[in-house]
Amino acid sequence: MSIDPEFARDVREGLLRTPRELPPRYFYDALGSQLFEAICRLPWYRVTRGEQLLLERHGAAMLDGLAGSAAAPLGVAELGCGSGQKLATLLRAASAPVGGVTLIDISAAALAMATDHLSQLGPWPVHTQEASYDEGLARLATSRPVSDGPLLVLFLGSNIGNFHPSEGRALLGRIRRTLRPGDALLLGTDLVKPERNLLLAYDDPLQVTAAFNRNLLRRIDEELGGTFELDGFSHRAIWNAAESRVEMHLVSLRRQRVTVAACGLDLTFEAGETIWTESSYKYDPAAVVADGLAAGFGTGTGAGVDAAPGGVRQWIEPDSAFALTRFLVTP
Ligand code: AVI
Repeated sequence: MSIDPEFARDVREGLLRTPRELPPRYFYDALGSQLFEAICRLPWYRVTRGEQLLLERHGAAMLDGLAGSAAAPLGVAELGCGSGQKLATLLRAASAPVGGVTLIDISAAALAMATDHLSQLGPWPVHTQEASYDEGLARLATSRPVSDGPLLVLFLGSNIGNFHPSEGRALLGRIRRTLRPGDALLLGTDLVKPERNLLLAYDDPLQVTAAFNRNLLRRIDEELGGTFELDGFSHRAIWNAAESRVEMHLVSLRRQRVTVAACGLDLTFEAGETIWTESSYKYDPAAVVADGLAAGFGTGTGAGVDAAPGGVRQWIEPDSAFALTRFLVTP
């Protein structure tokens, strides 16, 4: 396998930091994407189920007012589409024609799954971009799924929660600047909930999330010539209430030496030393609306099922404590 220089650089920089860190975007190799799909089915991880319920119940309302015309129908693009299941649910609710779909994901395995799913569902052309969010946005700016129709961008699954809040707000601003009047953003965010539920979601009794976390070390061993021993690290999830985030770490179970050939690293981990692999920020519904408005989105038409301030439409699933918020781009 050829070495991805960006992966090698990020692993080197992250593992030399204090405390050590690895960027969560590298979770999603083929096995990591499958493990994430398994996490989404766990009874303790309610993000996917809550969002799916909202899309099933309110999909038509989420598409309301975005129809476009027969000559220029609605185009839909999803940033980080995963398996494409949620987009499929939304498209099933569409009463007006959809003219094209663009799937953006860094995982080739996820794109293959999603393309299969969506091509079977309707006559729309499906375009794929194996790309980061920013690369995907840059390409969307010049090549939309439907060149003249309105565009709905989906950013679901609380993927925004894996960014530090200031970076998340900056990303919302970049999404806004990619869009034009008449376009919209549907944003999924996981909400603050009791600590016990959060910890069960990120440290599940079946240890699927632990496998997802440790798979990152396996990936480094395989792709970058690392010597991580997987039984030398355990999974830890903590709720950091002050920062409103769940953190995932890998904890070294003993003093051990690890080398990573492609990064020129020769490291000693002390017993108890950690690698911070992910932050998953949890939101307050009103703060989500405020962030969208601050990013330059305008106000929507009418109130949603759960009306949010500013005319933006917001739907909340109370059992999972998950919100979908629709922002329109107004002239
Ligand atoms: C993709 N992302 C929004 C997930 C989350 O909840 O932060 C990734 C994940 N990490 C552990 N479980 C799921």
